[in-house]
Amino acid sequence: MARAVDNRKVAIIGCGFVGSATAFALMQSGLFTEMVLVDVDRERAEGEALDIAHGMPFAGPMNIYAGDYDDVADAAIVIVTAGANQQPGETRLDLVHKNVRIFKSIVPEIARRDFPGILLVVSNPVDILTHVALKLSGLPENRVIGSGTVLDTARFKYILGEHLGVDPRNVHARIIGEHGDSEIAVWSTANVSGIPVNDFCELRGHFEHEEAMERIAEDVKNSAYEIIAKKKATYYGIAMSVKRICEAIVRDEKPILPVSNYQHGVHGLHDVVLSMPAVVGKDGIEYQVPAPLSEGELARLHESADALKKVMAELDL
Ligand code: NAI
Ligand code: LAC
Repeated sequence: MARAVDNRKVAIIGCGFVGSATAFALMQSGLFTEMVLVDVDRERAEGEALDIAHGMPFAGPMNIYAGDYDDVADAAIVIVTAGANQQPGETRLDLVHKNVRIFKSIVPEIARRDFPGILLVVSNPVDILTHVALKLSGLPENRVIGSGTVLDTARFKYILGEHLGVDPRNVHARIIGEHGDSEIAVWSTANVSGIPVNDFCELRGHFEHEEAMERIAEDVKNSAYEIIAKKKATYYGIAMSVKRICEAIVRDEKPILPVSNYQHGVHGLHDVVLSMPAVVGKDGIEYQVPAPLSEGELARLHESADALKKVMAELDL
């Protein structure tokens, strides 16, 4: 169902590290004129709204306030960042049971108010929770999206850009599959402004391709563990990733982003939600993009899908 493009209201459910950083990034983006913050800890939501509002004279007017689910129903986008985060040594999948319980309290509150917009899931494990939100909400598949590996892809571009001495915006490479330990770095089509990545590496004096690819993919995959060990949580990279997804929706920009989305057969994937490239616009997922993969990448993608399906099969929804 097409939404009024001029709907510039956003709701964020969960105002912790990620939710508050996202609110701060979105307030400065100029994308929205209204923002409601919802949290079981109402004081936290009120405090974050006040703190961000005091920056308004520098960013321009926006109505930001702490609210409840009645204030969420007419938002263009509802972003869910509520839930437990990883403690050092925990994987994202370790969070599944406690965060599914939280989603069972959140998603029906949104769905029963005939929410017409896009539901953007960030909480982890994001691919699983996006699938859970799809099932619990009954919303159309195109309107239930997860931030997926948009953040991992940004990390991949940054690390490759540092390695090659180029602007990360000229690095075209993506991470797909689970936003987690089974994610896949797609090297077979990676390029720098159209130059195949290995050719560009050699231009820059790097010839140990296998070693570099393995190290860089590991660094991307382990980024969250490294940051959590140092500062307890990650939130700025994901806030910027969520801002990018919101830009695509609000401005109907139609970029190709590796968001978590329900799979209907691309690369032989069925009945699983994971991060695969799709065109994102005002109605959410416009269409999926079957980006080419090597045999090895395809095999690992199915391993990632199988790992996610196994977790989903054990849930009582
Ligand atoms: P946090 O603990 O700082 O914040 C979580 C917030 O959720 C708290 O304010 C809490 O009161 C609230 N909350 C809990 N239950 C709720 C409910 N039923 N309704 C409304 N609010 C509720 O955690 P943090 O660091 O902000 O992480 C939040 C989630 O985001 C975690 O699951 C984390 O793993 C995930 N995350 C996902 C990323 C991604 O790339 N997809 C990146 C970074 C974090
Ligand atoms: C990340 C984790 C927390 O930062 O999902 O990638």
